[in-house]
Amino acid sequence: MVQPTRDDHFSFGLWTVGWPAADPFGTATRPWLDPVESVHRLSDLGAWGVTFHDDDLIPFGSSPDERARIVARFRAALDETGLVVPMMTTNTFTHPVFKDGAFTSNDRGVRRFALRKILRNLDLAAELGASTYVFWGGREGAEVDSGKDIRAALDRYREGIDTLAAYVKEQGYGIRFAIEPKPNEPRGDILLPTVGHALAFIAELEHGDIVGVNPEVGHEQMAGLNYSAGIAQALWAGKLFHLDLNGQRGIKYDQDLIFGHGDLINAFSLVDLIEHGGVGGAPAYDGPRHFDYKPLRTEDVAGVWDSAAANMRTYLLLRERAAAFRADPEVQQALATAGVAELSTPTLNAGETLADLAADRSAFEDFDVDKAGERGYGFGRLGQLAVEHLMGAR
Ligand code: GCO
Ligand code: MN
Ligand code: MN
Ligand code: MN
Repeated sequence: MVQPTRDDHFSFGLWTVGWPAADPFGTATRPWLDPVESVHRLSDLGAWGVTFHDDDLIPFGSSPDERARIVARFRAALDETGLVVPMMTTNTFTHPVFKDGAFTSNDRGVRRFALRKILRNLDLAAELGASTYVFWGGREGAEVDSGKDIRAALDRYREGIDTLAAYVKEQGYGIRFAIEPKPNEPRGDILLPTVGHALAFIAELEHGDIVGVNPEVGHEQMAGLNYSAGIAQALWAGKLFHLDLNGQRGIKYDQDLIFGHGDLINAFSLVDLIEHGGVGGAPAYDGPRHFDYKPLRTEDVAGVWDSAAANMRTYLLLRERAAAFRADPEVQQALATAGVAELSTPTLNAGETLADLAADRSAFEDFDVDKAGERGYGFGRLGQLAVEHLMGAR
């Protein structure tokens, strides 16, 4: 039951297990990892998919010949293992050319170069069968308020995304875009800092129908927000196209810990939501369960694969715990006491007008506000039941 299989749809970025662990204060602690080896190891561990930035696979500046050779070798590993590429993305942050952003660099030449870099990789994404293309704009932002015209930057962001989305439609690639919000790091302030900002931006797009979000656990938590609540709003908007699972402990730098190694209670509610939040307790999200974490800098190569397995194991254990929580009669009783299902009943009756409501004495004149004010919702008990299931105490 806690052994991952392909049906679980677990995917990993090449940049996660492949992170050599250089940080701003120290050099790499692990050797370069061949993407072909990552494909084999991930497959052996029970993963289903692998994702990557163009430069994770094909070093920046490779010649067309080198590029073709690298892609062919990678594709052979996919064919051999059966691993799929559900998502791809572009590195528009490492090279110094992107230090002021890509879509939103003040330098127009940089913006045009960025579009070309993304365009080329979109063609590869279509070739490899990816259905989602992620945009994480880590360098789209600023440190000095007067140095960036935010409204102009959003115009250019929209221009970039719409231009590329129109291209994807023209080509019939069937790829959808997913914007990944993050509040800061590496820029002091990043554009589209939270799920809410990204959803508001998408509403302004011409081709917003194929653009959704890719929320990351740690990124919402860096902004002090509730990740599973953000995921619920993305689902409500029909915009949860992908997600990045990991762990974060509070409002600080982006930790990219193993999934669950942070706010475990929120990880539980997230798994409960996506696995059981659909109609009749069905999954509310059927896309990849994608891990965007970093093996700790202290780990050796064996620790890398231990940590990859740990992400999947934690997810599966939480899924098991969430199923037990849902099946527990005491939980069902607590949910009823709290009135959770009642919230799905519309506030007005079918066909009822505001005039009808105004004429309904039971809604106001005869409504017993004192009694309603005395009601206990029992949310604390419900929360304790969740914690006890999470702890394996029930
Ligand atoms: C980060 C981001 C990235 C993105 C990746 C794919 O904070 O570094 O999470 O890891 O997910 O660039 O778009
Ligand atoms: Mn992160
Ligand atoms: Mn990250
Ligand atoms: Mn991410």
